[in-house]
Amino acid sequence: MAIGYQQENRIFTLDTAHTSYQMKVDDFGFLLHLYYGGRVYGNMDYLLTCYDRGFSGNPSDVGNDRTYSMDVLPQEYPVMGIGDFRNSALIIRNSDGSDCCDLRYVGHETKKEKYRLPGLPAVYADSGEAETLEIYLEDKVNGVRVTLLYGVLAEADIITRSAVIENRGESGVTVGKAASACLDFLTGSYDMLSFYGRHTMERNLQREEIRHGTYAIGSRRGASSHQYNPAVILAERNTTEDAGSCYGLVFVYSGNFLCEAERDQYDQTRILMGLQSDLFHYPLKKGEKLVVPETILSYSDQGLGALSARFHHCIGEHLCRGKYRNAPRPILLNSWEAAYFTFDGNTILKLAESAADLGIDMIVMDDGWFGKREDDNSGLGDWHVNEKKLGCSLRELTKKVNNAGVSFGIWIEPEMVSEDSELYRQHPDWALRIPGREPVRCRNQLVLDFSRVEVREYIFEQICGILDQGKIEYVKWDMNRSIVDVSSMETCQGRVTYDYMIGVYDFLEKLLQRYPDMLIEGCSGGGGRFDAGMLYYTPQIWCSDNTDALDRLRIQYGTSFFYPASTVGSHVSAVPNHQTGRSVSLHTRGVVAMAGTFGYELDPAKLSEEEKTAVREQIRQYKNWEELIRRGNYHRLTNPFSDTCAAWMFVSEKKDRALVSVVMLEMHGNMTVSYVKMRGLEPQAVYRDTENGRRYFGADLMQAGLPMPVEFKEYPAYQIELIREA
Ligand code: GLA
Repeated sequence: MAIGYQQENRIFTLDTAHTSYQMKVDDFGFLLHLYYGGRVYGNMDYLLTCYDRGFSGNPSDVGNDRTYSMDVLPQEYPVMGIGDFRNSALIIRNSDGSDCCDLRYVGHETKKEKYRLPGLPAVYADSGEAETLEIYLEDKVNGVRVTLLYGVLAEADIITRSAVIENRGESGVTVGKAASACLDFLTGSYDMLSFYGRHTMERNLQREEIRHGTYAIGSRRGASSHQYNPAVILAERNTTEDAGSCYGLVFVYSGNFLCEAERDQYDQTRILMGLQSDLFHYPLKKGEKLVVPETILSYSDQGLGALSARFHHCIGEHLCRGKYRNAPRPILLNSWEAAYFTFDGNTILKLAESAADLGIDMIVMDDGWFGKREDDNSGLGDWHVNEKKLGCSLRELTKKVNNAGVSFGIWIEPEMVSEDSELYRQHPDWALRIPGREPVRCRNQLVLDFSRVEVREYIFEQICGILDQGKIEYVKWDMNRSIVDVSSMETCQGRVTYDYMIGVYDFLEKLLQRYPDMLIEGCSGGGGRFDAGMLYYTPQIWCSDNTDALDRLRIQYGTSFFYPASTVGSHVSAVPNHQTGRSVSLHTRGVVAMAGTFGYELDPAKLSEEEKTAVREQIRQYKNWEELIRRGNYHRLTNPFSDTCAAWMFVSEKKDRALVSVVMLEMHGNMTVSYVKMRGLEPQAVYRDTENGRRYFGADLMQAGLPMPVEFKEYPAYQIELIREA
């Protein structure tokens, strides 16, 4: 039984294969957090201590006892206004203006399957794989009921949390802040690992000690953002890649979020993950509910590598959906860096022909094929094919492309509108803007109000009208600006950021229902919305607009902490690279792109015959390793921010096949040798290097490593394929 409840002392225990999570309803109905970490067997309420703590108030229930304080006790869902002065998971503003909600336990229920969240992405599981615990808390004064949802995927070592806030009272209330997960730690010193960045340089790892005060990351940009990814790790200070304790929190949401970590006055640590409280004040009338997006939790006592493995499994198998969840992804040739806006149907056909010649599966016609769109200043919203530019209809073009031997995909950006577009001229009020103010432009475009049904329905019709023209098997869904003008003609302002996201999810869900076999790749200026929420709809996401192999090593390293390689869109592009001006060998570019869903972002006509032969060989190799890359266990072997080389490997489930990839990052005179230590092999097994036939014990490769050649060139890369022999 993954979920246990002891009636006599009102303790809930959630057990997974290697972890336990415990909480308790105290004598007054407060839900206290007791423990989360490695598997335990007893009741952990002995951990709670109570002392008279100055300036930490006591609930009236305890009479004159000055030792019982919500300011000190670990909480499961801390609320503003009841004497816990730390960061709150929930702030309720009542009709009288007070910020208070006193939640007490009123009941619970367990279910034999994983809960689902209406309108929101969430982890799913087959029956028998997961259970749900629902705990009901209520404030008897304002009538607010909070249902805390816990999903337990025992074998996967995953616990998910969500919360539903419901107004069952007579007066309206406003939700000012809502998190889905809170973890309180009574003891320990922790670092927070977060992933910051910017456009074309996403998900750089930052490891910071959590000190007194609050350390917070989040987004107010309307999307999860390039700047901070909605996924963090709380690690004990000495935790490394393969040793030590760490907790991961992954928010399954693509909009504004807030993650706060705080060390309190008694050196206790609290971490919260949930909706961003800025730009958010969500009114709930009598009977209305707010569903807080899910947070996925996992714990590892074997370091960051094991934690990543759990998230890779959870996201790959329990969040990504559809035909492509477990199917090879097409190798793409994308027109963007090959032609930008300067193309016609013939250009696309030529790309398709060279794609077929090289062994590429699909051509993607990127931005520029619709409306008036010769650059990024106009046309968004006018989803009709510019046949004049293409020189033919879309149906004709897709037919020609298919006849050339490759499939066809297309780029769209449904959430946006250009001021210079027919749509905007007809419906200027469909763009998000604050009445009486001029909106902030970004890439010279505005954001459509996707919280409004009629706006979404109109765009949906237009997009379907396109997708029905010919055999279109892939869509790249882009979103190329941040949201500033948070205001809606229809809904209340404080709801817009949330309702907008619900609208985007609704659109995506309908699109998938209508085109169940369509592969949708997410994108937001590359990796500006690379999150678990989008992965529920789009099993792969363009990882970054930066295709420079060296920068990509770092971007993909950061991405790997939570997201499996099968979700990472990664292409070989031309040199000098368009984002950095750097030239890296075709081989190295290929090795880096093979850490994701592989493809090309260049004009093959510009390749020499020798390069074309090399590309054919790359594709042959990738197809050979595709399953290992997509389904194998991924291990980080070095840290490209600090080590002389970037190295990672994929090991098959049976540990009978592995692919090690290494890129040298530094070149100096009289260069020292880099030894790469492997991970995840069977220690006693013998592995053969398929290229030179040398044999090694798994243990030897893991304990002592393998010396990398010293070559006098920049950024050489190596791929070592190991096959188990005995
Ligand atoms: C974004 C994407 C690119 C490309 C352009 C097109 O920046 O990330 O890959 O599709 O838009 O405008």
